[in-house]
Amino acid sequence: MHFFRPLLFRSFSLLACALALVLMTGCGRQSKTLTLRLAHSLDTSHPVHTAMEHMAAALEKTSGGTIRIKIYPGGLLGSERETIELLQLGAVDMVKTSTSPLEGFIPGMAVFGIPYLFRDEAHFWNVLEGDIGKQLLALGIDKKLRGLCYYDAGSRSFYTKDRPINSPADLSGLKIRVQNSRTSILMVEAMGGSATPISFGELYTALDQGVVDGAENNPPSLLTSRHYEVCRFYSLDEHTRVPDVLLVGTETWDRLTEQQRRWLQEAADESVRIQRDLWNRKTRETLDKLVEGGVQIIHPDKQPFQDAVRDLHASFKKTESGRWMQAVLDQE
Ligand code: GCU
Repeated sequence: MHFFRPLLFRSFSLLACALALVLMTGCGRQSKTLTLRLAHSLDTSHPVHTAMEHMAAALEKTSGGTIRIKIYPGGLLGSERETIELLQLGAVDMVKTSTSPLEGFIPGMAVFGIPYLFRDEAHFWNVLEGDIGKQLLALGIDKKLRGLCYYDAGSRSFYTKDRPINSPADLSGLKIRVQNSRTSILMVEAMGGSATPISFGELYTALDQGVVDGAENNPPSLLTSRHYEVCRFYSLDEHTRVPDVLLVGTETWDRLTEQQRRWLQEAADESVRIQRDLWNRKTRETLDKLVEGGVQIIHPDKQPFQDAVRDLHASFKKTESGRWMQAVLDQE
């Protein structure tokens, strides 16, 4: 598991991967077609992947075949954290990640990990599509990470192997996998569980082998990752709305002409519309498929979960994310 891998080995693999990709990119530049390499952690059956395939097709069409996007799905190039590092090194051109691991690079992104912050879906989208969302997308530019758009990742809820989570008390003594994010760790601990960061690609095995007792995610990710084969209880406490974000490396962006940048942004914007529509349809279908697959869906009272994170909200107000948190609360 990468979390436990010695640091030296991790740095070496990252460098080796970066070098191989840079060499491949160098070869690609000989031809007239510009190929942009995009890495992400999700399965190819996931709605976010489908939307990005549409983006690639749209960009190829509008650019008259001169720009292609090659997608590396399923964590092929590493965990989300590792691919963000590859993006900073210029070894990949684009990365789709959850905003959770991004908070280690762009602290303002931690605002999305604050549990029970958004009043409803309309509030969430007003934030993403308004000034706050736009400012956050631009916040990583000096770290070589330029945000292009957000994708819907619904609400995250707990799923467990051996017993259902009806209230925070049921998390006591359970090891719950979280993303590589301080906010997620603090949230699970505030609710009484023991938080264990593991990359998404390594989670199936970790659940199967009992390294962790459960995890948390949105319905399409629970289904497409097949974690439901191991975790039979899904408790819809809907604690966070952590979006996905599409990033382009600033080195790549700077190499593009004005026209190419417009094409890329337009293709990304179009993929957002496609993804939101797909997401709404898939989420409904997914819960039915999970039930068919033998998963018990629990609708717990959310109040005790909200009460458990009240102190966490107060402590966030004092951090760098506090400013963003207030801006979100003030948003219509
Ligand atoms: C969601 C998100 C992914 C992320 C995953 C996770 O599925 O879309 O980008 O990797 O959560 O929990 O790690």
